[in-house]
Amino acid sequence: MRIDVVSIFPEYLAPLELSLVGKARRTGLLDLRVHDLRDWAHDRHRTVDDSPLGGGAGMVMRPDVWGEALDDVLGGAQAHPGEVELVVPTPSGLPLDQRTAERLATVPHVVVACGRYEGIDARVAEHYRGRGVAVTELSLGDYVLNGGEVAALVLVEAVARLLPGMVGNPASLVEESHGAAGTLEYPVYTRPPEWRGHEVPEVLLSGHHARIERWRRDQALERTARRRPDLIERLAVEDLDRRDRDILAELGWEVGDEGLRVVSPPGGVAD
Ligand SMILES: C[S@@+](CC[C@H](N)C(=O)[O-])C[C@H]1O[C@@H](n2cnc3c(N)ncnc32)[C@H](O)[C@@H]1O
Repeated sequence: MRIDVVSIFPEYLAPLELSLVGKARRTGLLDLRVHDLRDWAHDRHRTVDDSPLGGGAGMVMRPDVWGEALDDVLGGAQAHPGEVELVVPTPSGLPLDQRTAERLATVPHVVVACGRYEGIDARVAEHYRGRGVAVTELSLGDYVLNGGEVAALVLVEAVARLLPGMVGNPASLVEESHGAAGTLEYPVYTRPPEWRGHEVPEVLLSGHHARIERWRRDQALERTARRRPDLIERLAVEDLDRRDRDILAELGWEVGDEGLRVVSPPGGVAD
């Protein structure tokens, strides 16, 4: 997979040389290229921004500079629909989630355009959409950052770890939070079995795989119900076994004709 990141702070992306992403780059699994937007500016000061039309505070990133940069980085993208996607991080985008990361991991070439100041002139996304390039505006969450570089770091890490061959044991991806089960992950423990008076749940030392699996499923349901009831609402009722339904009933959820609904909310988010 190829990912290009365009930013006025290319140094910000230096952590992508570390850890699993860095290794994937060295082994050729991930072709990651970081570009300085100012390389496409034409004046002596390498200007990339201008004041907002219509007035207002701050500066807006210029479409002409972005246009030249993206024409180069996207290459012949317009001629290859489905082969390339332009991702524009913005707090007004759709929330980035695991499904989006999974989808992007199947796109051969992703280009991330990192905004700064008040963001990128809105015509840039519009222009490439009109040229047949898939453009996705993505938000990391309901807060405002200074620039899109942190979003690019998050996106690259979330997408790259899904590439085949990236994570040593692919089984570790299956049971994770936000995976196919639709729940948060159960709590995890390692040795020693007793630490500062805290003991690991006895079932995990039993060697009884079916009991361990059931305990983990119960914990995942309970944790999800307490912390993220919105995820419980989205569970497919037909995938719930008898025990799942009992656990959820104890937590105040009822299975009705239209799915799961809470009848008596549990208190707080603490475990
Ligand atoms: C200061 S922000 C611009 C915010 C913009 N004026 C608004 O209110 O929507 C500058 C840049 O940071 C990035 N950014 C800020 N918050 C973000 C978020 N929650 N998710 C993704 N990118 C974000 C975007 O690239 C954005 O163009």
